[in-house]
Amino acid sequence: MLNALTPQAPDKILALMAAFKEDTRDGKIDLGVGVYKDASGLTPVMRAVKAAERQLVETQDTKVYTGLAGDPAFAETLSSLVLGAARPADRLAAVATPGGTGAIRQGLELIQMAAPEATVWMSDPTWPNHPAIIKYLGMKAGTYRYFDNETGGVDFDGMLADLAGVAPGDAVILHGCCHNPTGANLTLDQWRAVATLLEEKGAVPFIDIAYQGFGDGLEEDAAGTRLMVEAMPEAIIAASCSKNFGIYRERTGLLMAVAPSADKLKVTQGAMASLNRVNFSFPPDHGARCVSMILSDDALRADWAAELEEVRLGMLSLREQLATALRDRVGSDRFGFLAQHRGMFSRLGATPEQVEAMRRDHAIYMVGDSRMNIAGLNAETVPKLADAIVAAGV
Ligand code: LMR
Repeated sequence: MLNALTPQAPDKILALMAAFKEDTRDGKIDLGVGVYKDASGLTPVMRAVKAAERQLVETQDTKVYTGLAGDPAFAETLSSLVLGAARPADRLAAVATPGGTGAIRQGLELIQMAAPEATVWMSDPTWPNHPAIIKYLGMKAGTYRYFDNETGGVDFDGMLADLAGVAPGDAVILHGCCHNPTGANLTLDQWRAVATLLEEKGAVPFIDIAYQGFGDGLEEDAAGTRLMVEAMPEAIIAASCSKNFGIYRERTGLLMAVAPSADKLKVTQGAMASLNRVNFSFPPDHGARCVSMILSDDALRADWAAELEEVRLGMLSLREQLATALRDRVGSDRFGFLAQHRGMFSRLGATPEQVEAMRRDHAIYMVGDSRMNIAGLNAETVPKLADAIVAAGV
């Protein structure tokens, strides 16, 4: 049977991770996978996470199964962090999942369960695992224009024009903040316009929010998601704690679904729990429990938010430094968009050949579509990257 297997296309982000590891050159620069790194290149365990883990070791007296939806305190605290005052308690179904990817996978399966014929729309470009999962599930896929390579901003006219083709019952994936891979984000007015359009069309927004706190701040980064939840009768949200709690390997995510009415809450929650059961039974608990401990303890929460804010400001400063270094070299503000982008990523707008030249000649690793992880930089590597960008003729 296994003789019939054929090689699967490698995920380009994970393939790049492997290629970087194998490169033996000194001074190589990793701008690939979306992992936060401090100035010394380390991905530290956040202080509040360490403290919560210590408490957990001391106080946890069982590791028996949780419910299929995971620890209710996790769902409550994380959904409150994401949705704030927009949280519709009487219509909100939520289940813990293995990471944000798990939430996306389960969210897509929920859509498939409810509406097998639905088309799932994605931004062009988007995180490569979105189309990969949709294809694996055999769902119909559509794309909408998103990025304007000329300006480095959002092609909003193109986006609206393409979303005009959405049919009733389709789902539209939107990045809650810090768009991956481009770093270009919708303004609140643009979110409002998308909400109006989707409501007119009878489509359901599926929001992937994996970088809350990395862009403009914890509240600001959730504003588009909250607006959507308030404006729409239904919404699906996949939240990840990998980045903003730095617990990548703990696989901590939450799938939320806003049911159309309080009457439909039980059946929605039941469908999501049953998807957990058939896929993996009980979701991982360690990271989720640490997150809910942090979010429900004033001191831990304040310390976590402060450390996250340092991370955010550090990335903003690196953006400014890179934009300035490029302005100095090219004599124009052509790369000014790098300072306007938000989150971990920016799409530089280089060709695959230029990306390859930077890898070959300067040991600088960015994804082939010229997505750079800004957190992979530091004060020393910014000028090296700026030189390489100019040398490659970007
Ligand atoms: C990324 O986009 O680099 C991250 O979300 C990590 C991943 O799983 O691809």
